[in-house]
Amino acid sequence: MATMKALVYAAKGQPRLEDRPKPTILKPTDAIVKMVKTTICGTDLHIFKGDVATCDTGRILGHEGVAVVEQIGDNVCLFKPGDKVIVSCITSCTTCANCRRGMPSHCTNGGWALGNTIDGTQAEYARIPHADGSLHLAVESASDNAQLMLSDTVPTGYECGVLQGKIKLGSTVAIVGSGPVGLGALITSQLYSPLQIIMIDLNEKRLATARSLGATHTVVSGPNVVEQVMKITGGRGVDAALEAVGIPATFELCQKLVAVGGTIANLGVHGTKVHLHLETLWDKNITITTRLVDASSTPMLIKLVESGKILPEKFATHTFAFKDIEKAYSIFGAAEAHDCLKVVIEF
Ligand SMILES: NC(=O)c1ccc[n+]([C@@H]2O[C@H](COP(=O)([O-])OP(=O)(O)OC[C@H]3O[C@@H](n4cnc5c(N)ncnc54)[C@H](O)[C@@H]3O)[C@@H](O)[C@H]2O)c1
Ligand SMILES: [Zn+2]
Ligand SMILES: [Zn+2]
Repeated sequence: MATMKALVYAAKGQPRLEDRPKPTILKPTDAIVKMVKTTICGTDLHIFKGDVATCDTGRILGHEGVAVVEQIGDNVCLFKPGDKVIVSCITSCTTCANCRRGMPSHCTNGGWALGNTIDGTQAEYARIPHADGSLHLAVESASDNAQLMLSDTVPTGYECGVLQGKIKLGSTVAIVGSGPVGLGALITSQLYSPLQIIMIDLNEKRLATARSLGATHTVVSGPNVVEQVMKITGGRGVDAALEAVGIPATFELCQKLVAVGGTIANLGVHGTKVHLHLETLWDKNITITTRLVDASSTPMLIKLVESGKILPEKFATHTFAFKDIEKAYSIFGAAEAHDCLKVVIEF
């Protein structure tokens, strides 16, 4: 049996590079892809903390990547061996009720499967189920690193943040969390010409990155953060408050920042309950949204990357050879100490 190297969720806190059988076509809608680049997501770190109940030990992790199609099943129509592709973090059968209503994140035959309920992309090869709905043809005129950010990071910022937050011409926006996902929202929100984009984070370096990517204001999170945002917005608060951290404190902060008639768009993955202050919000005509990324915007985002309108390759701060992926995990696990945003893993 042919084998390959793969990064496995061996146990809590233990990423381990192992030899595994090379995947084979199991269903006629499958494709086998040879990975070119992959990356590590904050969600992979959640898995190592034991926060993701659906992901068992022994799983090959990874739900992002740029790859080349190696083999296709008989029913794959849109791709052929040799095609360079972006692997979507969401597997879409395209035909179930949720896929048909534009919500492939909840595809009953897929959804977030790679590196969660099935083996993923942090391996030399990966089996992609429902390949026609789950891969996108990569373009030659954009870099692999830019397209790597279109598997998950930028679609999440755009779909769960910008679209759900209803950002439009003249909006005032606060993005709490200047990590890759918050920055994904930052670069795509600018296409709607909001008046102000206020980035809020604890980390000065990440705020400097946000300024270089177009934030009009940055605020270091602390006791005066609400006052500072109120000063910037003339006492109104913001039309869109995007929560891109995933902890109670930042969701509660968004409730203090949102203006009358505004929207709180939650992007963060939350592991604990949070307070909802209806006693201050009941009369403010606000909307609260939640969303799991559908990655249905990826084809459009590819065009934006191709035309240079967004430059997500700037999120890539560190590059590792695949053989060093365990080291990449330790650097990414202490991202802020290493000024790290996204690691690129090359095969
Ligand atoms: N909804 C979805 O489908 C989806 C998809 C992918 C990721 N996510 C989630 O999005 C969130 C952001 O992802 P990421 O990769 O950018 O994470 P990240 O950890 O790199 O970034 C989070 C940022 O929040 C900042 N932060 C922490 N505490 C803060 C505080 N009290 N005030 C202000 N800032 C604070 C950190 O300094 C960091 O820069 C995570 O919760 C991730 O799991 C959601
Ligand atoms: Zn992810
Ligand atoms: Zn489906």
